[in-house]
Amino acid sequence: MKERLLRAILPLLLRVVLPIFRPLHRFFTEMNITLFQLRRCFLWSTRPTDIFLCTYPKSGTTWLQMILYQLQTDGDMERIPHLSIAIPHFEESALPIEGLPNPRVFKSHLPFWAVPKGGKMIYVTRDGQDVANSFFHHMQTVKLYKGSFDQFFDAFLAGRVPYRSWFAHLAGWSKARSRPDVLVVHYEDMLADLEREVRRIAAFCGIPIDETQMPRILERCSFAYMKTQEDKLDVGTYERHLQAMISARQTDVMFIREGKKGKGRDRLSEAQRARYATVFTKQLRGFGWDRYDTTRQPDRSVSQSGGEVLAP
Ligand code: A3P
Repeated sequence: MKERLLRAILPLLLRVVLPIFRPLHRFFTEMNITLFQLRRCFLWSTRPTDIFLCTYPKSGTTWLQMILYQLQTDGDMERIPHLSIAIPHFEESALPIEGLPNPRVFKSHLPFWAVPKGGKMIYVTRDGQDVANSFFHHMQTVKLYKGSFDQFFDAFLAGRVPYRSWFAHLAGWSKARSRPDVLVVHYEDMLADLEREVRRIAAFCGIPIDETQMPRILERCSFAYMKTQEDKLDVGTYERHLQAMISARQTDVMFIREGKKGKGRDRLSEAQRARYATVFTKQLRGFGWDRYDTTRQPDRSVSQSGGEVLAP
C-alpha cells in the first residue's frame, strides 16, 4: 500500500517539486544571499533607464562604475563621498536606492537570472587567473583573510569563495550575450583600448559624448588617476564609511592595486594552471568564453580538492 502510494506520488514530486527547488538551490549555492537581498532582487520595480553594471568580483567593476560616472556627470569626485554612493551595489546597499534619480546605475555581482530585467545590463569579464589573483589580495586586505594563496586558489576553483564560482558566473551569463539589452565588455579590451570601449559603452547606454570632454573622461578612468582616488573607490573604505569597521585592516595593499593582465597566470604553479584548465574545460567549454580558455596552450591536466566555503 505504502509502496503504491510512493510510486504514485514520486513522479509528481519529481515533475513539480524539483523544477521549483532546483533554481532555488542554484540561487543559494551560487551566492551568499540574505533575505533582504532576495527581496530586493524579486520585488524591484525596474525603470527602462536603469543600468546594471554586472561582474564577477575583481573583474573591473569599479573601473566600469568610474566610466559611467564620468560619462553621466562632469566627473567631479569632490561631489561624492564615495563612488558606491553615486553608483550603489544593488543587492548589498543598505541605502534606500529605489529613490535615486534617473538614470539609476547600479553595480551587481548577481548571476544573470537574478538581475532584475527591464533596463540595460553591462557584463564585464576578466581572465579567471587574474581574477583569482586580484580576489586573493582583496580577501587579504579587505576581508582580513589569513590563508595562503594556494589555499585560496583551491577554494576559488571549487567555487567556495564569496559570490561562489567564477566558472558558474560566466556560464550563467553566456546565455545573455545575444540579448539586445546586454553589452559584454572585457577587462583586457579596456586595457588595450579604453577610448574604444568607453565609446561602445556610451553608445549602448544612449549617452551622447561631448567630444571636448573625452580627454577628461579618459584621464579620470586611467589607472593613474583612479589610484589617486583610492579612498573614494575602495569597497573597504566604503564599508568603513558605513560601519566604522575594519580597524585591524592592513593599509599597504590597495584596491586600485595593479591593473594589469597576466599577473594571475604568472602567479600560478604549473599544477595550478593545469587544474584551472581542467575546471574551465569541464564547466565553461562551449559557453563562448574561448578567449579565457588556456587549453589552447597545451600544458594542462589534474584534479581539484574540497573544503569549507570562505567567509565573505
Ligand atoms: P588588480 O587587483 O589585479 O590590480 P573590481 O573593481 O571588480 O573589484 O576589480 C578590481 C581590479 O580592477 C583591480 O585589479 C584593480 O586594480 C583593477 N582596476 C581598477 N581600475 C582600473 C583601471 N583604471 N585600469 C586598470 N585596472 C583597474
